[in-house]
Amino acid sequence: MIEEIIQQYPTAYDRIKKATEAHGFLMGSEVSTCSLLKTLAASKPGSKFLELGTGTGLATAWILDGMDASSMLVSLDNDETLLNIAKENLGVDKRLTLICTDGGEWIKRNANQKFSFIFADTWPGKYQLLDETLAMLEKGGLYIIDDMLPQNNWPAGHSEKVKHLLTELDKRDDVVITKMGWASGIVIAVKK
Ligand SMILES: C[S@@+](CC[C@H](N)C(=O)[O-])C[C@H]1O[C@@H](n2cnc3c(N)ncnc32)[C@H](O)[C@@H]1O
Repeated sequence: MIEEIIQQYPTAYDRIKKATEAHGFLMGSEVSTCSLLKTLAASKPGSKFLELGTGTGLATAWILDGMDASSMLVSLDNDETLLNIAKENLGVDKRLTLICTDGGEWIKRNANQKFSFIFADTWPGKYQLLDETLAMLEKGGLYIIDDMLPQNNWPAGHSEKVKHLLTELDKRDDVVITKMGWASGIVIAVKK
């Protein structure tokens, strides 16, 4: 089965998964998405990567696995307990900077930074500050979001937010996008 053909998992993945389950964190990215992130990460050697919403570091581990030795990844979350799981398991990787902060504040403070790869996995950068986040993407850079297909854990009114976001992305002429009804529902945008 094609679903079973997932290339090598990151070394730290099992430990992070166990810690994530023990914590009761249910918003981690699924493996198919993580595998796609790793593949796309490998297309950007020597680049700057950004993950908005680290969680416990599940996707972080895969993005790091796809990155080459000269790339660097900034990943942020506003929940220190979750970040500590990522720190304990991935903190030895010198390419990774983990930041505990509000994503919106961080985006506003770092508007001058440019990234080749942005995985926007929290409110700021996706449902908030979309313009500012896409402005941080360099030409040819990848902007990736997931959870665009209906999920059991969506709160009331969330599907309208998703529709609005997809419409906003569709309207833009500075990105080329593809919407994939695969995994949790992925959108990949490339900056023109
Ligand atoms: C979908 S989860 C991230 C999952 C993670 N990327 C993964 O692959 O497992 C969203 C994360 O955003 C964080 N978060 C929520 N609001 C935030 C904010 N305003 N600023 C920064 N992080 C936020 C939550 O603590 C949560 O860990």
